[in-house]
Parts: sequence; structure tokens; C-alpha cells
Amino acid sequence: MANPKKPAEKILKFPKSFRWGASTSSYQIEGAANEEGRAPSIWDRFCQLKGRVNHGHNGDVACDHYHKYPEDVRLMQQLGLDCYRFSIAWPRLLPRGRGQVNLAGLDFYDRLIDCLLEKNIEPWPCLFHWDLPQALDDLGGWSNRDMAGWFADYTLLCARRYGDRVKHWASFNEFSVFTLFGYAWGWGAPSISDRAYHLKTIHHVNLAHGAAVDVLRGQNAGFAIGGIHSYQPVRPQKNVPEDIAAANLFNEHWNLAFPDAQILGHYPPQIAEAIDPYVQAGDMARICRPLDWFGLNHYAPMYGRADPEMIWGFGWGEVPAELPRSGVGWPMQPQAFSDSLQELTRRYRLPIYVTENGYGNEDKGDKAAELEDQARVDYLRSYIAAMSQALADGANIAGYFVWSLLDNFEWGAGYGTRFGIVYVDYATQQRIPKASANWYAELIKKQRK
Ligand code: FCB
Repeated sequence: MANPKKPAEKILKFPKSFRWGASTSSYQIEGAANEEGRAPSIWDRFCQLKGRVNHGHNGDVACDHYHKYPEDVRLMQQLGLDCYRFSIAWPRLLPRGRGQVNLAGLDFYDRLIDCLLEKNIEPWPCLFHWDLPQALDDLGGWSNRDMAGWFADYTLLCARRYGDRVKHWASFNEFSVFTLFGYAWGWGAPSISDRAYHLKTIHHVNLAHGAAVDVLRGQNAGFAIGGIHSYQPVRPQKNVPEDIAAANLFNEHWNLAFPDAQILGHYPPQIAEAIDPYVQAGDMARICRPLDWFGLNHYAPMYGRADPEMIWGFGWGEVPAELPRSGVGWPMQPQAFSDSLQELTRRYRLPIYVTENGYGNEDKGDKAAELEDQARVDYLRSYIAAMSQALADGANIAGYFVWSLLDNFEWGAGYGTRFGIVYVDYATQQRIPKASANWYAELIKKQRK
């Protein structure tokens, strides 16, 4: 039930050109992990480590989207989506990360893209949503500078194969998140915790991004290219110098290390100093290539505090008690979203596509409650209202993709956390639109009138 005391936020009218979509990613939905030539990614390996993923879950089957994509595309059409953001699984196309191409993998995305286009839905592939081929990790992964060239080769393969039908391309999903979690804190694949490794990774991922932009541009000057960034304002837990300094460094790492380098051509100050030994002459120009849009994934404000136990000395602070929380405990504050949209408009001067925003909850096993997901409706309504206000106040926002189309494999949380607007019954693979899916479809419909 919606809170009767709380007036519903007003969603202002969006321009006709505004794009509405939904997002997913390959490892989280495809399944078919061992089918038709796909080789393991670092996430397949990570899931095998004891105790790393809740309930020992993995992406072997996930939502079986690899086989059920026609049904999923039909769902997107029923929702009235303009565009669909998905990711291409590198280890499905190039099982060893480079060299021998897996034709069955290439065919899969051909079928998916054609199916989307038949239903008038624009495909928005992202080239990297964390499922690095294990074979490349064995060669040092992102700590190896050669990765930039290997990523460029993989990008060329995709651009040549799909570029006749795909216009919008994203290089990476959430640069800062997978590098911090995977290579600094060790909480995500490939579970490394090492300062030098992390710094090299930041720089090489940036180089790979720049190389991919050049490849795409060279293939077709009409492509619309962007990178996807997690941007959440970082606030000090307490107003004391050590927490303020920690929040500052947290902000450099989480929010600035990648977009500042890619769009402004320099690293934020503290990272610039630390990363200097790995930067070669001409690198910043290789990283900073012209882009067409900025992908923003936004969920919640963050609180940082000094924590000497953590690798960079900053850690997660407590969320103020007065802030309401989502079903996974993330603070909810739509104002932080509109502030971020304004801040990013000013800082990077690119049209923003909100490429992820959504509400997660723990699955308590009550299917009826999952389908009547009023809390998700309330979240989406208040966040989309904040976005419409930001737009009216001058932020440059061109589209919005909800995370996620389907409940799916939520990384370390496994299948116990649901973010979908469509419910997935994992035992039967049945899809059922939740109240939030119906609400989102209505919103899109109203915007078209
Ligand atoms: C983002 C990820 C996405 C999903 C959501 C909930 O950080 O990009 O894959 O896990 O969070």
C-alpha cells in the first residue's frame, strides 16, 4: 500500500525525444554458461570459491535468457520500451579472450539484436559488464597493459559484426565498482586486494576504454558512444577531519577516477599522484577521446569514514538513521539523484542517459508480495519525479533505463536479492510482470500522449 499520508511526487512531462528503457547484463541473465562454446569468465571462477556468493549460487542457468530471449523481447515490447541495454559476453565471442572466434556466440547476439529491431526496440550493447574471460585473467587481467589492445580487438569484432544494426555503444559498465571490488577490496571477482594491482587496473581499464572509442569511431563516425559510471555522492559519516578526508578519497576513487580521465583528461589529485608510475607519455590523450553521452548508474548516496583496516584507508560509514532504506538497506533520497544529475551536467557537459536506477529487496519467499511490489513503485515514482525536476531545472538528460528488466543473479548476493520489474520464478523460468512493470508501462504510455 502506498503511504496515504505521503503525497505522490509529481512527474513532469518529458520531451518526446526522451528514451525509456531497461537494463540487464550478460552474466546476470544469460545462463547457458557451458553451452555452444562459451568459456569461463572470472565470475564463473569466483562463484566456485567457497562462501563468496550467497547460498553458493552461480550464473550457470540464471534467467536462461540465452534460450528465452524471444519471450523477454516480447515482454519489453509489452512494456513499451524504446531501448534495451544489455551486455555482450566477451568469453562467449572469444573464449580465450583473443584469437579464435566462437561463431555460435556471435550468432546469439545477431538473433537478439534482430529480434529487438523487429519489435522496434533499439539495442544498446555494453561491451564489458564484468565477465572478463578467465583466460585473460590468467595473463594478469587488467594489471597487464596489453589488455587495452585485446579489448580493442574484441571491440572491433563486435563493431564489424553488429555495427550495421547498432548505433549506441557503451564501453564499460561501472568502471570504479568492478575495479574497487575486484582488485582493491577483493569482494568481487577476481578477488584480489592489492594497491599496485588496483592502480594498474584503473589505468589500463581507462586505456582500454579510449582504445575502444577509437575503434568504434573508426568503424562508423555515426556511432553514439559512451561509458557507464556509477556516481553516488559520498558524504562523511561524521563531520570530523578524518571522515571528511576519507570521503574525499572515496569520492575520487568511486566517482572521479574514470570520468575525469576520460572526459577531462586528468586524474583527480590524490589518484594522479599514486598512479603516476604507471602512466606513460601520451596516455592521457589516449584515454580522453570525444564521447557522445554519459551513462549514469545511480542508486543511493554513500557515507564514507576513515578505516585503517581497509586497503585505501576509507570504508563504508553508517547511514544516518533518519534516511529511509530500500529492501536491501540502501538509503533512499531522490534529491541526491537530482543533485547528481545537475552536478554531472555541469562537470562533463554531455547528454546523460540514466543507464541504471532501481530498487532491490531480499526475497522472503512470498511470491504474492513480490508481485505487489509497491515499495519498488514508490521508489521509481519518486526517483523519476526527481529526474523530471532536474530536467526542468536544466540538467541535460536524454533517457532512463530501469535496473532491471528481470530479477537476476545479483553478484555476491546470488538470487536472494531481486531488482527486477518482472518476477522470475527460477524453478520454472516463468516470467511475471510485477506491479512496478505495469506502473512503468503506464508511465511510458502517458509520456507518449
Ligand atoms: C550495479 C550493477 C548491476 C546490478 C546493480 C544492482 O552496480 O551495474 O549489475 O548489480 O548494481
